[in-house]
Amino acid sequence: QDSLREVADGRAFDLGTAVDAAALRDDVSYRDTVRTEFNALTPENALKMGPLRPSLNTYDFTDADALVNFARANDMTVRGHTLVWHNQTPEWFQPWDYTDDQLRRFLREHVQTVVGRYRRSVGTWDVVNEAVADDGTMRETVWYDAMGEQYLDRAFEWANEVNPDADLYYNDYGADAVNEKSDAVYDLVERLLDRGVPLDGVGLQLHALGEWPDPDSVAENVRRFQALGLDVQVTEMDVAFPAGEEPDDALERQAEFYGDVLDACLDTGVDTLVTWGVDDARSWIRSFRDFSERYTGDPLLFDERNRPKPAYRAVREALST
Ligand code: G3I
Repeated sequence: QDSLREVADGRAFDLGTAVDAAALRDDVSYRDTVRTEFNALTPENALKMGPLRPSLNTYDFTDADALVNFARANDMTVRGHTLVWHNQTPEWFQPWDYTDDQLRRFLREHVQTVVGRYRRSVGTWDVVNEAVADDGTMRETVWYDAMGEQYLDRAFEWANEVNPDADLYYNDYGADAVNEKSDAVYDLVERLLDRGVPLDGVGLQLHALGEWPDPDSVAENVRRFQALGLDVQVTEMDVAFPAGEEPDDALERQAEFYGDVLDACLDTGVDTLVTWGVDDARSWIRSFRDFSERYTGDPLLFDERNRPKPAYRAVREALST
């Protein structure tokens, strides 16, 4: 039977996964699964500001370089995640220590140093992650407080300046189907485009936790972003049930949903889907108490012993048709 990567390669589809640098270094079976079953990868944490910035004046590219080099050695594309986010800023980074102008200069230097370093190896960036709050208003983050909504404009322009060839994405969760939040994301990206911001695409994270978005509505949502001239990618997919409520046929239901989302991608011309992790044992859901208490921790294509699940076969099936 073909691997996922073989069927994905066969139809020029980027099937990716979020990769943990330590697991890639320490676990040979994890490494082999990443290399043989996926043709794209997203560093799960290594390209975020926190891990990259041990201090104000230093960068630590060790893990990011290892992941980027692994991808290059295995002919895999890399999604750079993520340059500007309110989460996982460095522990030493206390915003009140800086003026607005110092924050702006700090952010510019961060974006341009990181994008510049990977100019030839990272072709797609989540430039800004999760700028819209769950109620549809702009999330009031340190960057928003310092620069207003234009922090998005500046971040995309700074990235574009050092890598004009990169595909620059806005990435968010809970905006997968047509809903109040995706309406707000739509309005935001429309404003950015109207202001001439070099935005190329929208990343739908598709963390399907408990309540899953209707794949038909996802397709409708994809189409309206495409109508703005934007590409769309599914960037962080995982599929979980409410804890303690999984039905007897949970694995089959999960498989069917993965297949339906892949079908929606293929129907709309979306050519990239990333699962947020390789195997269930390493899912982030298991390491976050407020998530592991609410959702089942088996959201991925491989089970906790790294064996393909029904969802794996559903993805292969969808990509084979
Ligand atoms: O590596 C350090 C370790 O050295 C340290 O001892 C330990 C305790 O502080 O922390 C470890 O880092 C953790 C890291 O995961 C690696 O395991 C961070 O604390 C922890 O916050 C981090 O969680 C990540 C989370 O984003 C927050 O950044 C998850 O792995 C990652 O799956 C999750 O991914 C996010 C996307 O980036 C954005 N969309 C939502 C998605 C799920 O939350």
